[in-house]
Amino acid sequence: MNDTRAIQTALENRRSIRAFKPDPVPEDLLAEILKAALEAPSWGNVQPYRVAIASGDQAIAIARELNAKFETATRVRKANLVTKLAALLKGGVKPDGDFNTVIKYPEELRARYRDTGMGLYGVLGIDRADTAARHAQMARNFSFFGAPTALFIFCEENLGAYGALDTGAFIQSLALAAQERGLGTCIQAALATWASPVRTRFDVPENYKLICGVSIGYPEDEPVNSFKPKRRALSELTLKAKA
Ligand SMILES: Cc1cc2nc3c(=O)[nH]c(=O)nc-3n(C[C@H](O)[C@H](O)[C@H](O)COP(=O)(O)O)c2cc1C
Repeated sequence: MNDTRAIQTALENRRSIRAFKPDPVPEDLLAEILKAALEAPSWGNVQPYRVAIASGDQAIAIARELNAKFETATRVRKANLVTKLAALLKGGVKPDGDFNTVIKYPEELRARYRDTGMGLYGVLGIDRADTAARHAQMARNFSFFGAPTALFIFCEENLGAYGALDTGAFIQSLALAAQERGLGTCIQAALATWASPVRTRFDVPENYKLICGVSIGYPEDEPVNSFKPKRRALSELTLKAKA
């Protein structure tokens, strides 16, 4: 029988995966997923995105470099002024990503961000006051949550917001195509904090900017993977017409 609600089911079942099995993603399967994602709509069909695929040793090397940067940046943030200046002069600490990944949320969005974070830590059994455990969880971003492959997504800069819009449609298509094939994904802005570990290893055109990473692999059977953060009510989504 034809599953006429396949898209509805896929949308409801897709979740960010934050615990992966180490099993590699077969190259042909990944190619199939990327090809499916290329069906996404884009402004003038220009498809203003490029993808750096990091697997195996390449993924391990990038993860190692990102983790080192994250640990150093955290240490420096907590250090005194002299240590901070010394680290800045030495270089490699400050984010060198193409976009700012540290967002100051407007009041309206802050509560939702906080609730999602608290919900996630709750499922992971991490106390809000346990800064070491929170730090360790944040650090897992840079090891792709154990995924064997990370996709680094670049977006053409001249299209401005429309390039990012197109890239978003591409990424969601990619996530759903992966899910249909038994794979999980986590879209991660954290992976765009530092661009140099990827730029030094891939031939990235200057006009393509690193917008995020996507960890991809087979999901572990862990509670964190079934965490389902709440969505807006429709009444909060739609705008009221002026009287
Ligand atoms: C642009 C973007 C950036 C994100 N960055 C991160 C990230 O750095 N780390 C992370 O764990 N999740 C990240 N996420 C996942 C979101 O937290 C997640 O999509 C949201 O909480 C909704 O949960 P769901 O994807 O499971 O439905 C990001 C998602 C998007 C779309």
